[in-house]
Amino acid sequence: MPFTPPDNVHVLEPTPELRALMSVIRDKATVRGDFIFHTLNHLPFVEKTIVTPTGAEFKGLAPLGKICGVSIMRAGEAMEQGLRDCCRSVRIGKILIQRDEETALPKLFYAKLPTDIAERYCLLLDPMLATGGSAKKAIEVLLSHGVQASRILFVNLICCPEGIESLLSAYPQIKIVTAEIDAGLDENKYIIPGLGDFGCRYFGTL
Ligand code: URA
Repeated sequence: MPFTPPDNVHVLEPTPELRALMSVIRDKATVRGDFIFHTLNHLPFVEKTIVTPTGAEFKGLAPLGKICGVSIMRAGEAMEQGLRDCCRSVRIGKILIQRDEETALPKLFYAKLPTDIAERYCLLLDPMLATGGSAKKAIEVLLSHGVQASRILFVNLICCPEGIESLLSAYPQIKIVTAEIDAGLDENKYIIPGLGDFGCRYFGTL
């Protein structure tokens, strides 16, 4: 049966430009600021009237609240420049999560986050949502720093039904923004068709 994502999963419109971009990154790692730009459309805006140099009023919009990025190292770091291209001087925190060799569970090794993160909308960056293990751990860290779940946007390039279900059953208030939803996971927990190991391909450590 085809997978129907819940309402809080936003899949970008498959424009020819996006399909072409995804074809490139599935083939060899590249990311673009456009993706983050689309993500920003999911942040709430409030009406704001400003006065132009002619003295006339203009009814515009202003972002509701401050944002920050948090990348899940190391693949998420590849999305930082895209965020900076759209939001100059945006604050970006980092979280390092790795598998604990003893328990096989995701373990937090490092977190450096903006001090006022509790007041911000948080764009959590990781290009691949596979099992959701690291993402859930990262969200746990954000919540423990006072971020509201409804202010977390998990931004990825490729995800799969298993990851979406696992993440949203744990944290139903978050929002997921993705470019494409793939078929599922293979026996090694890689996304299929996916693009292989994003971090290794992007950073050239294959
Ligand atoms: N992380 C990756 O880089 N690729 C996958 O397919 C799954 C997780």
